[in-house]
Amino acid sequence: MGNVGTQAETDLTALEKELLSSIESASDLAALDDVRVAALGKKGKISQLMKELGSLAPEQRKSFGQAINQIKQSVGTAIGDRKKDLEAAALASRLEQEVADVTLPTRSGALAEGRIHPISQVTEEIYEIFADMGFSIAEGPDIETDFNNFTALNIPPEHPARQEHDTFYFDPKPDGSRQVLRTHTSPVQIRTMLAEDPPIRIIAPGRVYRCDSDQTHTPMFHQVEGLVIDKHTHLGHLKWVLEEFCKAFFEVESVKMRFRASHFPFTEPSMEVDVGYAKVGDEIRIGEGDEWLEILGCGMVHPNVLRNVDYDPEEYQGFAFGLGIDRVAMLKYGMPDLRAFFAADMRWLRHYGFLPFDIPTLARGISA
Ligand code: DAH
Repeated sequence: MGNVGTQAETDLTALEKELLSSIESASDLAALDDVRVAALGKKGKISQLMKELGSLAPEQRKSFGQAINQIKQSVGTAIGDRKKDLEAAALASRLEQEVADVTLPTRSGALAEGRIHPISQVTEEIYEIFADMGFSIAEGPDIETDFNNFTALNIPPEHPARQEHDTFYFDPKPDGSRQVLRTHTSPVQIRTMLAEDPPIRIIAPGRVYRCDSDQTHTPMFHQVEGLVIDKHTHLGHLKWVLEEFCKAFFEVESVKMRFRASHFPFTEPSMEVDVGYAKVGDEIRIGEGDEWLEILGCGMVHPNVLRNVDYDPEEYQGFAFGLGIDRVAMLKYGMPDLRAFFAADMRWLRHYGFLPFDIPTLARGISA
């Protein structure tokens, strides 16, 4: 009997050696799995031996059983270890094969040829700066009601400001009301306040229309409106927001700003904001120097406007501002003629346009 045991144990040792060596030499995960099935699968060698245990004498069964279990464990562990190694190797080789060299030049084609229009680029720059200050983006339609464009903004029908806006009117409807091509982005203030409760912190970019055309005026141009409404919003907040915006947008450490008293029907008090600049040769340097350029209008939202959207002016107040996107784009990138923006001239676009990969981010420098 002892002989049988010794013989069987020798066989087991040989089997273990054989299995461990085929695990070691399995060159990929599929080969390793074949080894696993051949050893531990239902019909595998180790499983077969387990089945044979039943036919052995009780005293042999115990020691043989222990020996098989020990092999089962060592083979299981070896398979697990080898599997980890093979997986790591497979991943490493995939990473090596699928490597992308992001420093290679763009292939010729739409991505290399196409240009982002300066208006789109500057609008993205503005989004990036105000998003960082916690503003969200609101939108409204180009065709507006007379109420949203004028009346709700404290510009009643007989108000002289209506003339200044050179409005494109639509034909009157049967009820006498007339729609307009919005003359400014301020109606988005009204839409937002009618739809939402305070606190409000939005910017509203978009196209606006006025019947006017010369070197610095086109019948369609772009504005961005800002609106902040809360319980304790005051002029100091307005000043801070606009200063931070100008520094980030013109990419300067500090910017000289002048808040000039002005008049808009929808704000009280109202101000126009100038930035200081110096002309060095052909270049305009924003932030320094003794010249002033007007870039936007702003003020504290008029109580009548708050009443028109059913806000209680005793409880809520806030500020608004309106900025010409085309105007600040011309300033920042030194583009002298506004009409060129809309001429669809590819030579102009190649010169002043931006590459699709030049996505404005604060982290990288807004116009890098
Ligand atoms: N809507 C004005 C315009 O088109 C710009 C403006 C001025 C907007 C002052 C404002 C503001 O929100 O407070 O001329």
